Order: sequence, then structure tokens, then C-alpha cells
Amino acid sequence: MIPIKSFSERRRYLASQMQKGVAIIPTAPEQVRNQDGHYPYRFDSYFYYLTGFGEPEAVAVIVAGGDEGSSKHILFCRDKDLEREIWEGFRYGPEAARETFDFDETYPTSKLDEILPKLMKDQPTVYCALGHDREWDARVIGWVNQTRQQARSGLAAPAGIYDIRLLLDEMRLFKSSEELHVMRRAAAISSGAHRRAMQKTRPGMNEYEVEAELLHEFRRYGAQAPAYNSIVAGGANACVLHYVENNARLNDGDLLLIDAGCELDGYAADITRTFPVNGTFSAVQRDVYQLVLAAQAAAISAVQPGYPWDAPHEAALRVLAQGFIDFGLCHGSIDTVLQSEDYKRFYMHRTGHWLGLDVHDVGEYKRNGAWRLLQPGMTLTVEPGCYVRPADNVPEHFWNIGVRIEDDVLVMETGCEVLTAAAPKMVTEIEELMQHRKDR
Ligand code: GLY
Ligand code: MN
Ligand code: MN
Repeated sequence: MIPIKSFSERRRYLASQMQKGVAIIPTAPEQVRNQDGHYPYRFDSYFYYLTGFGEPEAVAVIVAGGDEGSSKHILFCRDKDLEREIWEGFRYGPEAARETFDFDETYPTSKLDEILPKLMKDQPTVYCALGHDREWDARVIGWVNQTRQQARSGLAAPAGIYDIRLLLDEMRLFKSSEELHVMRRAAAISSGAHRRAMQKTRPGMNEYEVEAELLHEFRRYGAQAPAYNSIVAGGANACVLHYVENNARLNDGDLLLIDAGCELDGYAADITRTFPVNGTFSAVQRDVYQLVLAAQAAAISAVQPGYPWDAPHEAALRVLAQGFIDFGLCHGSIDTVLQSEDYKRFYMHRTGHWLGLDVHDVGEYKRNGAWRLLQPGMTLTVEPGCYVRPADNVPEHFWNIGVRIEDDVLVMETGCEVLTAAAPKMVTEIEELMQHRKDR
């Protein structure tokens, strides 16, 4: 767990980046699933990043730019309610939350409408994620208007609204050693889950049975949930990029593509592995697999500080384009295939994304029109693939082969660390592991 003092340090750092003003950061609302049932609760990542507080109906407020750069940190949260706690479990309540989460002041959430207009008085700027949630926007603007109505008494209302995400995204992009500790653990649990899937898969099983093995491993080691909907895609289903039905039979001779990672204490892992259902790659499956693996190796070699964000993608594309030409899937030179984007018939997504509290994490990819340069502390995925759908101009033995190999990497002072290296991906490693699996 990340120590509480780190959350208050983040708030102080955020305040130091703000001009004088009030930042308002609400957590996510609970979502009704049906009738009186809710989806499992997941806090808002920005809110959690600044507070470490996991309860719903909470709002963090930071008043910045006071004397000598000091800032005041306020938390609004649910009241203690012993009756409700019998049904729904523990809630901190303002008093205990102030102590435990290191806030200067705490109030019940029911007091937001009373206190926020007061906090906005004589503040030039409101910092919030305007545009994220219409209802919330309307509330914030309501408080600004309320403050404005008191202008006759000589008080000024905020004149500017600044998107706080511009500051927070940049902070979240660089992971601290404490965050990396959690991410390494999430990566290790998820790698173990992929290993387990390889060991458990047999022809004739259903995709959902393999999904169950992944979930078993996530929960068994304390991960709270999958970080995103797991993709367990046998055979042709691997060519559906966001396949989530996970309910088809796994056939002897097919490949199985699994894209699954856990969320641990808010942080995501994101791993894809592709392996043969029967434990042995066919010749053509192996060729495609080795091509994607080579593309991934080239991309990982391009994860270096000072390299542009796009370098891993460009490196993967060159390897894939040459492979598609060698396989007779594309024609011409690498440069013509890249220029015409003919490769997109078989590789239509990009090679990675930032990773962190959100699986597709926040952070700019471009600055002033140019790809951003990689810097130590950034975490991203490297996930090339090849997906061959049946088509007249495609040799039939490639049909329905879908391969993706995805790892999570951390940019280091030199090169990078592969956080998910424990998930097997060499052909020999996978075949060996699967051939020595014990019958259930
Ligand atoms: N699992 C989502 C992704 O790979 O981007
Ligand atoms: Mn990914
Ligand atoms: Mn993925």
C-alpha cells in the first residue's frame, strides 16, 4: 500500500503547480446495475491519486496560493452511520477520515452546497475536470454563480475555470517508486494468471473456463478485480480485437489469445499472450507468432529515454511489414507497404499506451504537434499483433490466426524494465510448460 503521506505530498505538489484558486476533485459515483444492486464500486483515479480514499460520495478540495504557497486540503465524505454500516460496512466519517487521510478539514458531503461557495470567495480560478460529467459541471457553475451573487458585498467570484487534468495527467505519467512497487506486484500476479491459463488449457474446454482460471489467480493473490474486461479468444475470435463473450469451445489445433490483467490497489497490469490450445504450435502458427515476437522485441528495444513515443510503434511496424511481405500477405517493399498502410489489413492498432491507475492511462502523447520523448518513470505497454481474417487475396492457411503479445514496461535511465517478464512468451518456453502440465 502507498503510505498516506505520499497522497498528501501529491496534493501539496499539485497546489504548488496551481495559481491561486480552488481545486475540486470528486470521486466516481456508484452505478446502479439493476433494481437496488450496484456494479462493484471503483473510485475515480484522479481522486484516489490525491487522497488514497476509496469510499464513494467523496470530494477533495484544495485551496492553493495562500500565504507563502501554503495550501489547505479539505475532504468531503459520507457521515458515520451505524445503521447503514450494519448493512453496507464500515465508513470512516469526517472525523476519522481527517486523521487517517491527513486532511486539514473534513465535512460531511451533505455540506458541499453550503461550504463550496464560501471557499470560492475571492478566489480567481476554479480547477476542475470540466466536461467530464455534466451534472457535476452544473453544480460547480452553480457554486460560482452563488458566489457571484454576493459580489455587492465586495467579494469576488472566480473568473476562470482551468482544466485540472492538465496538471494531474502530467503528475500521473511519472510513477514513483511506491507506485512501481504496486505495479510490479500487479504485473507479477497477472503473469502468474497467464502461466496458470497455459497450464490449465485443454482442447474441448470453453473459453470461460480459462477465464475462470485467470480470475482465480487474480483474487487468490489479493487483486481486487480485472483491470479491464478479459479477452479469452480461441481460434477466429482472436481476430475480433475487443472480443469479450468468452463463451466458445476451444478447439484442438487453434490458438488461444488471452488479454487479461488485474487491478491491484488501483493500478492496472495489461498482458496479452497467445498460445496453442493443444500445447504445440503448428508451422504456420509458429511463423506468425515468431514474427509478432520479433516485432515486439524490436519495439521493446526502442523503449529508451529520449526516444519519441512513436519509436516502438515504428520499430514494430517495420518488422511486421517485412514479415507480411515474406508471407505473401503484402506486396512491394517495406517502404511502400508502410506508406500505403497496406499492413493495416493485418495490424490495425497501435503498439501501446500509457499504463497506470487506468489501463489506458492519462498523459499526453504529443506536445506542440511532436511525439513526446520517453523519460524514466513512464510506464507503457508494448503490444504488436497480427490478425488474419479470411479473404480472397490471403493464403488460406493463414486464415483466422490472431496473435498479440503484450508486455508492460518501465522506462529506465537506460533502456527499460519489462514488468511482465514472468509471463512465458518464447515458443520453447510455452510448449515446454504446456507439455508438462499434469492432467486434471
Ligand atoms: N487490454 C486493453 C489493451 O490492451 O489496450
Ligand atoms: Mn494494452
Ligand atoms: Mn491488453
